[in-house]
Amino acid sequence: MTTGDQSTGESKLDRLAMYRELQRTVPGLDTIYRLTEVLLADHPVDTPRVLVVGAGGGREIERIQTGVPAASITAVDPSAGNLALARHVAGNANCVHFVEGRVEDLHTEAEFDVATSLLVMHQLPDDGAKLSYLCAIRDRLGVGSALIHADICFDDPDEFERLVPIYEAYARHVGASAEATQLELRTIPALPVVSPDRTRTLFAQAGLAPPREVFRSLWYRCWVSGHAPTSSKGLLK
Ligand SMILES: C[S@@+](CC[C@H](N)C(=O)[O-])C[C@H]1O[C@@H](n2cnc3c(N)ncnc32)[C@H](O)[C@@H]1O
Repeated sequence: MTTGDQSTGESKLDRLAMYRELQRTVPGLDTIYRLTEVLLADHPVDTPRVLVVGAGGGREIERIQTGVPAASITAVDPSAGNLALARHVAGNANCVHFVEGRVEDLHTEAEFDVATSLLVMHQLPDDGAKLSYLCAIRDRLGVGSALIHADICFDDPDEFERLVPIYEAYARHVGASAEATQLELRTIPALPVVSPDRTRTLFAQAGLAPPREVFRSLWYRCWVSGHAPTSSKGLLK
């Protein structure tokens, strides 16, 4: 997704359609959003306070609203255009509080039972920005809370090239548009992606529990974490 621009009604719909078409090109990518819904529905708190970091596009908001209508959602994104898409998807729901800004800018008194960080961190350079981002999420998680985090990841620099033929075969098989397929193939190599090992190191440095991988498809992965067990807000297990 591009960021920062205000969308007209028509281009907003075009961008939503492209977002959905891109999702269709990756086997099972919807699982990340379904998992988010299920984990939230299974949360011990009946009315969980949910922080949706990088809410642009509204995919996780849509699922949370469906599966956990009692959740109160704070949706944060620095891109006005992307946040407008999320608002459009959320409809008139008054349980969603939209904040235009980065998670780092959100006031720290806010405390959440669950935070989602889906496909955001891979956009940030690994020059301290990824770590600051994770620390900002950690600072807003309450005692015993959970973090659902998804990112694009490569085990090694050649993994993308090895996976491309499989991606193309799948996209062809489901009849995905050439435009969406080419956009995915152009976008992924340009991202400041890190390995799963580096992701685990960043989580540890941020005082988060070792992330447990719950989903993987091609270059997409999803993990569940929370406060490190040793932190003052972690739950020792
Ligand atoms: C690829 S989109 C993913 C949107 C959504 N989470 C999803 O999975 O469909 C990434 C979004 O993260 C936002 N973003 C980037 N840096 C951020 C930050 N520091 N805090 C919050 N959102 C951020 C971007 O503006 C963009 O809308």
